[in-house]
Amino acid sequence: MWILFIAALCCLYLYTWVRLYPGKFPVYPGVIPLLGNVSILSGGSEIITDPDDCYAVLSSCMHRSGAAKKFAKTFIGNGLLFGPVSVWKEHRKLINPTFNQQVLDGFIETFNSQSRRLVQELQESAGKDSFNQHVCLEKNALETVCLTTAGVDLTDQNEFNKKCLTAFRGVFNALAKRGMNPLLHFECFYNISNTKKEELQHVKITHELTNIVLRRKRESQDKEQNNKSDTKFKPFLDRLLESSDKLSTQDLKDETNSMILTGFESTSGTLSYCLLLLGTHNNIQEKCYQEINEVFGDSDRDVTKDDLPRLKYIEMVLKETMRLCPVVPYTTRVITEDVQLKNAVLRKGHLCFVGLYGAMHHPTWGPDVEQFVPERWLDTSGLNPNAFAAFGHGRRNCVGKVYAMMMMKVSMVHILRAYRVSGEYNRMRIKNMGINKPVDGHQITLYNR
Ligand code: HEM
Repeated sequence: MWILFIAALCCLYLYTWVRLYPGKFPVYPGVIPLLGNVSILSGGSEIITDPDDCYAVLSSCMHRSGAAKKFAKTFIGNGLLFGPVSVWKEHRKLINPTFNQQVLDGFIETFNSQSRRLVQELQESAGKDSFNQHVCLEKNALETVCLTTAGVDLTDQNEFNKKCLTAFRGVFNALAKRGMNPLLHFECFYNISNTKKEELQHVKITHELTNIVLRRKRESQDKEQNNKSDTKFKPFLDRLLESSDKLSTQDLKDETNSMILTGFESTSGTLSYCLLLLGTHNNIQEKCYQEINEVFGDSDRDVTKDDLPRLKYIEMVLKETMRLCPVVPYTTRVITEDVQLKNAVLRKGHLCFVGLYGAMHHPTWGPDVEQFVPERWLDTSGLNPNAFAAFGHGRRNCVGKVYAMMMMKVSMVHILRAYRVSGEYNRMRIKNMGINKPVDGHQITLYNR
């Protein structure tokens, strides 16, 4: 009783100070005496999960959450992911053509050589106890994204790349800690916290990576100045550097940083889930292997762009993996105009959480929605097209979705051709840090074929 009384007095005291010195203390709008902002938690926190409602919001509102932008500012600044809409519009126009099919077809050689590298690195763990495959997949995907979108080879700095991966995880950890602690939402408290120190230490390393990428790119461009190709279809960083009159040095760094981050975290995460799911469902793994045999026979040759449409079953497996275990389980939008949902209207000015995970686990998928059933992708005529939301919807959807599918298909062919996988999906533990990441890897076992 006494404790409650003292707590109430403290709240009243603080409230009086806040009122006496407005502007000196951080205050969320809607504060009420003694209870503060507790009323905010009493309702309105519903996440939209109906596929058509998700589509309605994503296709009409372009602003992501202000808090997410604020939190990620030091890390990725104004890059595509969290940049203000005015910047995003300009940059997205510039970046869209760099993911054109002709540019992507040019990456297939790198997807093959990187997959071979991955198979070699995994060999260390083959035939032994279960291990955390995510470490290898992340490092390989980081190098692949730098090699393709930036045209920069970082495979010679193995140790630094590993350090960067720890740093990326460290930043996500710090940002997730901040998100979970309402006090740290205020800059004044966050700036003096240990979490901020942690964030800065890690961000410094990730920015070092971006600086290396940009420096190496500039050096290689200087060397190749004379035989510069004037093709219309240029990879991401070439196009950005060419437009450097429109972009500041900081813009260049932010976009490079965003692209590296979004590119490697998502693809390595999906491949990690996919291997675990195949390791749990042997019959499905065997069907993938049969398909590989049908397309490649006994040959160990590279995957060509003409092979990709023939790898239908592997594509279904990847889509089903993304449906069941989306790496990005939700996204956010600020409602900039009233949006009519099926049974309600979302009013302008509110923040909306769009549950991509919810849409992909919605009853519209049928009674086996929680099962891993790649065959559901054989006939999609009865399926609501808005229900598959792994890459988002609307103009702010994933810019790298075709890249991702190509890269993951090539990797799966090389991995499954070399190894049989075993794992236990039901033991998987996930941590949400904005994106879903494995707590300590997913622990698979590999056997040489
Ligand atoms: C399995 C792979 C991937 C998944 C599941 C995925 C998923 C997503 C999702 C859900 C969004 C947010 C959409 C929204 O808010 O409406 C997004 C945005 C984005 N993704 Fe991906 N992504 C993947 C691969 C990639 C790759 C390989 C790249 C680049 C190489 C990339 C670059 C981006 C960028 C730059 C954005 C921000 C787009 C914008 O705001 O305009 N993604 N992605």
